[in-house]
Amino acid sequence: MVSQQERVVVLRELLPVGMELLEEQFEVETLGLDASREQMLAAASGSDAMVTDLTFAVDGELLDAAGPQLRVVANFGVGYDNVDLGACAERGVIVTNTPDALTNATAELAVALAMAAARDLPAAEKDLREGRWQGWDPKRWRGFELSGATIGVVGAGRIGGRFMELVAGFGGERLYTSRQPKPDLESRLGAERVEIDELLTRSDLVSLHLPGSPETTHLIDERAIGLMKPTAVLVNTGRGTLVDSAALVRALEEDRIGAAGLDVFEGEPAIHPGLLTAPRVALAPHIGSATYRSRDEMSRIVAANVIAVLRGEEPPNPVG
Ligand code: DGY
Repeated sequence: MVSQQERVVVLRELLPVGMELLEEQFEVETLGLDASREQMLAAASGSDAMVTDLTFAVDGELLDAAGPQLRVVANFGVGYDNVDLGACAERGVIVTNTPDALTNATAELAVALAMAAARDLPAAEKDLREGRWQGWDPKRWRGFELSGATIGVVGAGRIGGRFMELVAGFGGERLYTSRQPKPDLESRLGAERVEIDELLTRSDLVSLHLPGSPETTHLIDERAIGLMKPTAVLVNTGRGTLVDSAALVRALEEDRIGAAGLDVFEGEPAIHPGLLTAPRVALAPHIGSATYRSRDEMSRIVAANVIAVLRGEEPPNPVG
């Protein structure tokens, strides 16, 4: 039997699907999206489980504020670069995430951004909405076609693999980087595993699907952009830290890269101001997983992980 006394603190927000599961069994406190760090530290005190998300750091300070009874940090998302895994391990706190639920949604958004960026859709729409459309014009709004394009997936994990499946219909070559070979992608989709520099050099579309980490920070920097074709489209639905925003802005302004579709940003929700004015950029406010199906399922998984740990069972999605 689960004790009624166990306390779960949702440090920002969880959707009703997950909340209902937690509230059936535990005392649950939710702080909401505007919670300050001070409010989080205070609310964490005495909790057995914390529901966290990518927008704030789960570090020694927060874990110590919670106290030694804390058993699980259930991160609402597949990425957990906001969580100090070492600090959790030192304190015997289990960390969980929400894989799979958002794979398709995020891959679909990467396709949408690729197409929007390649055709400069946001700027074309802005012109239309703001009354600058003077009628059909053979010169204006010409972009890049993805059919026949060489498509490079950097990080062919679950999301990168699904992205590759979705774009397979474009028919060109498919390249990928991955620590391990992916025989399934190779046999089913004819994908070729290459080193990152070769991928950047050969691809017409480069889609980033890596987690945020010190090793991946500014993977796409001035040098990497220099390897890319001047017509290449760069898509990032992984983490903002993967791309040196200032270098990307310069490349867009100087026509050294074709276009960019970005869902994630360094230091979000702040955005490098140059990205708001640079040409040929499609932007989204970190909505890769934002479908009804995906976010509901993520919320359910968060709850399932909390419930398992507080019952003394192995959680479905431990990380670290
Ligand atoms: C994640 O899950 O890591 C995404 O960035 C948010 O859904």
